Parts: sequence; C-alpha cells; structure tokens
Amino acid sequence: MFQSVPYNILLLGSGGREHAFARSLSASPRCKHLFIAPGNAGTAAHGSNVSISPTDFPAIRDLVLREDIQLVVIGPEDPLVQGVVDYFREDSELRHIPVIGPTRSGARLEGSKEFSKGFMQRHGIPTAAYKSFGKGEVKEALDFLSTLSPPYVIKADGLAAGKGVLIPDTLQVAEEGVREMLESGRFGQAGDRVVIEEFLPGIELSVFVLTDGRNYIILPEAKDYKRIGEGDTGPNTGGMGAVSPVPFADSDFMHKVEECIVKPTVIGLDQEEIPYRGFIFIGLMNVNGDPFVIEYNCRMGDPETEVVLPLLEAVAEQRLDRMELDVDPRTATTVMMVSGGYPGNYDKGFGIRKLDQAGDAIVFHAGTTMQDGSVVTNGGRVLALTGFGVGIAEALEQSYAAAKAIDFDYAYYRRDIGRDLMSVNHSTE
Ligand SMILES: Nc1ncnc2c1ncn2[C@@H]1O[C@H](COP(=O)(O)OP(=O)(O)OP(=O)(O)O)[C@@H](O)[C@H]1O
Ligand SMILES: [Mg+2]
Repeated sequence: MFQSVPYNILLLGSGGREHAFARSLSASPRCKHLFIAPGNAGTAAHGSNVSISPTDFPAIRDLVLREDIQLVVIGPEDPLVQGVVDYFREDSELRHIPVIGPTRSGARLEGSKEFSKGFMQRHGIPTAAYKSFGKGEVKEALDFLSTLSPPYVIKADGLAAGKGVLIPDTLQVAEEGVREMLESGRFGQAGDRVVIEEFLPGIELSVFVLTDGRNYIILPEAKDYKRIGEGDTGPNTGGMGAVSPVPFADSDFMHKVEECIVKPTVIGLDQEEIPYRGFIFIGLMNVNGDPFVIEYNCRMGDPETEVVLPLLEAVAEQRLDRMELDVDPRTATTVMMVSGGYPGNYDKGFGIRKLDQAGDAIVFHAGTTMQDGSVVTNGGRVLALTGFGVGIAEALEQSYAAAKAIDFDYAYYRRDIGRDLMSVNHSTE
C-alpha cells in the first residue's frame, strides 16, 4: 500500500524531459525530497543532483538504500532496455520499491524495431508492411528493397539515439544504407539486424499512454518536429519542438487510435505475459485519417509531465482504472534551442545569458551544467521553452518571446514550430 506520508523519490536522467518531471515531482505533497541522477542545471532547482549514470545499477542501488528512496521514475530508454526494473525485482532489498517503467522484456517495444513490428503483426495493430534481415542476408534485403518504391525506410533494429533510421529517395542510396548497416557496422550492434518497411505518407503525431499492465490512461497527444531545418528539412534530431494537443487528432481519430492501437497493445502485452507498468509513447502516422504505428518508445516525452505525477502511484498498485485525468484545456508549445552544428559536431561550455527574461514561458533545461557559478551549454539540445495559450499561435508567442530573449553563442532554433498546424487550427477557431 502506498504510504500517505511524504517519501523520497529518485528520478533517472538529465534532459528536458527530466527537468519537466522534476518540476512536477518536487511540487507534489507526497514528495519529501527528490534526487536526480545525474540531472542538469535546471533540475538542481527541484532537488539534489547526484552524479551517477542512469545505467550504473550498483551505484543506483547504493543511493536508493542510503537515501531511503520509496519511488523510482525512469526518464530515458537506455536503463530500461538494459533491465533496470529487472535489477530491482531480482534484489531482495529493492524489489518492494515501485519503479515506473517496463522490464527488459517490455522495453523491447523500443529496444528492438524487429520485435515491435512482430508484436504489432501478432496483434493486428496497423503499421507499415515490412521485412527484417540479419548480417548474412544482405542479398535478401536488397531483393526486398527492389520490390518497394521510394522513399525507402531502413531502420537499425537496436537503439541508435534517434539516428538509426534512413529514408533515402533512391534505390542506390538505400542499398548503400543497408550495406553500411549490415556489412560496415554503421550503427554498431544496433545495425546487426535491420527492418525495411514501406513508406507511410501522412502527418505524424505522438500518443502517450500510461498503463499499469491491465488498465491504461491516454494522456494528451503531441506533435514533434524532428528535422533540424525549417520546413522539415535536413537530418533528424532528438526533437526541435512540440505542440499539444494536436488539432487534427479529433475524437474520431483518437477513437480509432484507442480501439485499433492502444487496446490491442495493452491486451497483447498481457497475453504475452510481458509485465508493463509505465509509459508507452506511440509514434503514429495519420494516413488519410487512419492511424498507423511508426514506432513504440517505452518512456515518456514532454511537456505532458505536469499532468502525469498524480497518476504515478496508481500504476504501482494497478489501480489506474480508478484515476481521473485532469488536463489543462490550454495549448502547450515547446521550442528547442540547440547548439550550433547540432545534430553534427558542436562545442559546449558557452554561457547562457538572460535566462531570467523568459517571460511567461517555462524554461526546461535539456543540455546544461553549472561552471564557476553560471549556467553553460552542455549538449546538442540545450533549452526547451514551453509556452501556453488559447490556441497554438498564442502559446508560440510565449515560446518565441523567450527564444528571442535568451541567448548563447551559436544558438539555433527553428522558427516554424507549429506553423503547419495553424492553418488546420484556423479552420476550427
Ligand atoms: N514507415 C515510415 N514511413 C514514413 N516515415 C517514417 C517511417 N518510419 C519512420 N519514419 C520517419 O522516421 C522518423 C524516425 O523513425 P522512428 O521513430 O521509427 O525512429 P527512432 O529512431 O526510434 O526515433 P525516436 O528518436 O523518435 O524514438 C519518424 O519520426 C518518421 O518521421
Ligand atoms: Mg524510437
């Protein structure tokens, strides 16, 4: 039973998502003290940063026992795919502590593209037609490529930090991509197996589900902007911005998502006896009004974290079906400020100026650290500037006002976040 007295919480990770989590977790009356491993300059305002890697399980164990941690929230995918939840379950001193996140077997939904495609096929979940191949099957892979039409979609099976997917427009480049993965190890072990699938034409969105393994709640959906360049040009990044909710995700569309994707996913995990207590982040393509799954992620995105914390306890005790979701009716937009050169090579350590002039926007730190008492850049994605408003345009005003005020050398951000949705938005206002 969850105690009602406040307790210590541990949050793993160091990005913008974790800052959003830290802000919500530390605001809860149930949180006595928050520890963040390793955290960043932003999370330090909400608890104690502890410089431990999220995948250093023995060090996490020591911290959990030393600080009497009673709830653990996992931010990024790596510790989940490497089995942090299994580590807790297999340890007699840790197994009673609730951990929000799936076991290693559940994390395969993200950790293996091949596993997730097979899972979708077994449970009749709509997704692009595909085949998968291993190192010794280069000829078969190229034969399959030649049966498809461009653009070609080639995915490294394992985790590749959001960079393991190639979408070439020509067969020649596609063949080179397959060879680079299977023969030259372009993405290391992650590319020892590849998934080749049909291209799905449409507009993307992300749906977030919280499940306790039996029940689920659907959180506000969002649309993110992956490409570095305006107009969705250039290489993929970890995400340059997001908008929530998404105008075209109307009740008809979301009904299809729930019936055709969310329910069969949760039921499928239960049928395959895969224990799953945590977030399922579903990457969808809206193809002429029908949802298709592009991918699963076994962790949460942001900025929905502010509505998430009250739900976390329910998951641990499988009583999610008794929780009500209280969603802010406004629109939220996030604009990411990144280091010059990202997602290629970039320098770190630049001082961030005018952080106190963000106006009404919330500044989530993504890649920052403290140096000689001041906040400096410490990653490709540096700050996420979240604005709220009635409608996308109003929320963006807050995000962009902050982006114009805050500054660091060689900073870059896309100036067209949400623009593609605004024409959709105007028709509804
Ligand atoms: N079948 C497809 N048809 C069209 N576009 C696709 C397809 N599969 C992937 N994409 C595009 O490639 C992007 C990355 O693919 P995917 O989400 O599977 O990879 P990922 O590396 O796991 O990304 P993430 O970092 O979001 O977890 C998608 O956001 C989408 O824009
Ligand atoms: Mg993914």
